[in-house]
Amino acid sequence: MKVLVIGGGGREHALAWKIRQSRVVEELFCSPGNAGIAEIADCPPLASSDLDAVADFVSRQGIDLTVVGPEMPLCQGLTDKIQARGRAVFGPSAGAARLEGSKAFSKQFMRRHGIPTAPFEIFDDVDAACRYIDTHPLPMVVKADGLAAGKGVFICETHEQARDAVQRLMVQRAFGGAGKVVVIERFVTGREASFFVISDGVRVIPLVTAQDYKRVFDGDRGPNTGGMGAFSPALHLDRATISHVLEKVVAPTIKGMADEGSPYRGVLYVGLMLNEAGPSVLEYNVRFGDPETQVILPRLASDLVPLLVAAAHGDLSNARVEWRREAAVTVVLAAQGYPGQYPKGKKITGLDLFVGGPDLLFFHAGTRTGPGGEIRTAGGRVLDVTALGRDIADARRRAYEAASRIHFPGVHFRRDVASDAMELLARRGAHA
Ligand code: GLY
Repeated sequence: MKVLVIGGGGREHALAWKIRQSRVVEELFCSPGNAGIAEIADCPPLASSDLDAVADFVSRQGIDLTVVGPEMPLCQGLTDKIQARGRAVFGPSAGAARLEGSKAFSKQFMRRHGIPTAPFEIFDDVDAACRYIDTHPLPMVVKADGLAAGKGVFICETHEQARDAVQRLMVQRAFGGAGKVVVIERFVTGREASFFVISDGVRVIPLVTAQDYKRVFDGDRGPNTGGMGAFSPALHLDRATISHVLEKVVAPTIKGMADEGSPYRGVLYVGLMLNEAGPSVLEYNVRFGDPETQVILPRLASDLVPLLVAAAHGDLSNARVEWRREAAVTVVLAAQGYPGQYPKGKKITGLDLFVGGPDLLFFHAGTRTGPGGEIRTAGGRVLDVTALGRDIADARRRAYEAASRIHFPGVHFRRDVASDAMELLARRGAHA
């Protein structure tokens, strides 16, 4: 088979790494890729926003399966374009990708299908939004309807903050057309969790659980990022909670999308809030998580490609997955200043100290190869160090040991990835 991966971050490196191991794959392409991906795949410089250029490449090269990493091309309809050429794609159609591409759509969808989510209203008028804000309790959350690279969500403690958020989104258009419509919802407290399933439009296969860290600094302080680390399994997602989420969230989502004429084929990433009232949905994402993928795929013992092909062809009935028992931890090494402005082109050293192997993996996120063959930084999140271990503590120790030996000027990373998982384990041990 010939496989094309779209994207160039740590998630796509993890996907390409796993796909490369497949017995059924002969040729692997990844666009745009990065320095790490270029070691295992051909990286044609296609602009993923140029859907026709990507679809032309797929036809010309006879690509058997395209795996789309980021949400933007999915929401823009890349899957539909490639399918129209008679080629298989792993990733939902534009209609199904509205679950992530439009918060207004997804919230109304949840209301229509009785899927638990915070109470909300939708506004396309600034004055109406402000009147609503003034008469509703705090805190509240103001969200841009469209894609805003994870920056379009404002948790507001005062009515003034909420009105400011509306001004920024709807009047100043800080995120362009994404803020034309806003969703205002009640703030829900609890513990966040991410849950992933692969679906063929009817059936689902749950993946192992994972948890990420969105804030830039230890102790969940500082601004939100794309994700600064992750671990798997997510111990607070116990079996009872998983069954509940499958029954009350995932099943009605998949059935609802099929009933509404947009069957969901791909990976569905459900962002949840867990509290005493039970799980409720914060948001849907229509793609693998980054960096959750960097801890999930190393735990997958079976071949990923037949699973993706089966989902793309709409028939998971014979698909099987096997998981390794080991736990995994990934630590994201970021550039100085990230998630704000950051420099590029810094030389990365220390990668050659490691032989690597199946239990210690370096997924490149924002890297490029310099003129002398050296690896240089090229993004905010630069490198993901993933380690597998007999348990979370072991994986964590090995990931941090490796992370501390890699260097580039200004490198920073969180020191507390998976520490809450270890505290939870210690508490359970104390009560055993
Ligand atoms: N880890 C957060 C995300 O992928 O959106």
